[in-house]
Amino acid sequence: MTATFWAPGRVNLIGEHTDYSGGLVLPVAIHLGIELSAGPGERISLVSEGEAVELAPDGAGDAQGWGRYVAAVADELAELGRPPIGLEGVLTADLPRGAGLGSSGAVEVIVALALCAAADFELEPLELAQACQRAEQRAVGVPSGILDQAASLLGREGQALLLDCGTLERRWVELPRRLAILVIDSGERHSLELSGYADRRAELEAGDPRRVRHVVSENQRVLELVDALERNDLQALGSLFLASHASLRDDYEVSTPTLDAVVAAALEAGALGARMTGGGFGGSVVAVAVRESADAVLRGTLERAGAQGWIVEASAGASPRRTDSLPGPS
Ligand code: GLA
Repeated sequence: MTATFWAPGRVNLIGEHTDYSGGLVLPVAIHLGIELSAGPGERISLVSEGEAVELAPDGAGDAQGWGRYVAAVADELAELGRPPIGLEGVLTADLPRGAGLGSSGAVEVIVALALCAAADFELEPLELAQACQRAEQRAVGVPSGILDQAASLLGREGQALLLDCGTLERRWVELPRRLAILVIDSGERHSLELSGYADRRAELEAGDPRRVRHVVSENQRVLELVDALERNDLQALGSLFLASHASLRDDYEVSTPTLDAVVAAALEAGALGARMTGGGFGGSVVAVAVRESADAVLRGTLERAGAQGWIVEASAGASPRRTDSLPGPS
C-alpha cells in the first residue's frame, strides 16, 4: 500500500552551533519540506528529480549523493532491529537543497519514517531523530548535532521547540501572533561536508576561548529569547538576533560577507532583527518583523540582497500521511 509522508525543513531561531556541545536550541519546523509517496518493495528504490537510488533493504549497495543519507538511515534502522523490507517511492521537495534549512535532515527523517512504516516498525520520535543524526554523521563524515532532525520531527504549529541537546529535555514555546519569521536564502550554497563545520567543533572541543565564548553566550541568549517571546517583547527579540549574528560572525567565524550583507539588507528593510541560521558558510538568514510589515520587509530585503525568501509559519513536524487518511502528526 502506498502512503504519503511529509518532513519539514527547519529554521533555528537561536542557539546556533550549540547542539553538539549539549547546549540549547530553539528551532521551528517550517512549511517548506519534502514529500514521499512510497510503499513496501523488494528493494529500496527511490527517485527524486530524475535521480534514482537503488539499495538493498538494509541499506547495502553503492550510494552516491543524497543516496548516502538513504543508505545510512536504512543501515541505522537495521541495527535497531527494523525488518529488512524495501521501499519504493518518489520524493518531491519545495525545500531548497543546500540553503541551510535542514534539507538533509528532512531527507533522513522522511526516509526513516517511510522505512519504519513499510516494515511495521516503530520508534519514539527522539530515538528516530538520534538514528537520523547518526546516519547524517556516517553519510557525510561530519560530526553534526541533533538540531535538524529533532526540529523536523518535533515541530509544532505556531510554536518553537526549546530543546536541551544534552539531556534531550524539551518544551514548546508559543510564538506571538504579531511576530513574522522571514527566511532569506543568500544564494550562497552551504554544505556541512565541505565547510569548516568539523573544524569549528574540533576548535571548540580544544577549548579555543573565542569559540567557547560564543557557545556560552549563545546558550544564555536562547534563555533570554524564550523570555522575550513569553513577554511578547519583540524589540528584545530583535536585539538578541543581532547579538547572536555578531557572535557567530566574530567569535565563531561561521558567517560570510554574503550572509552579513543579507542581515544588513533585512535591517535596512525594517526587520526587528536578523541573523544567519544553520551551519553557516553560506545558506540562509532568519529575520523577524511585525506581521503587518512582513511583506514589505521581505520585498525590501530581496531588492538589496539574497536570492529568494519566504515568510515561514511554524509548522507541525514530520508525519505519515496515509492515503487512507491516518490522523496527522503524533
Ligand atoms: C547544522 C547542523 C546542526 C547544527 C547547526 C548549527 O545545521 O546539522 O546539527 O549544528 O548546523 O547550529
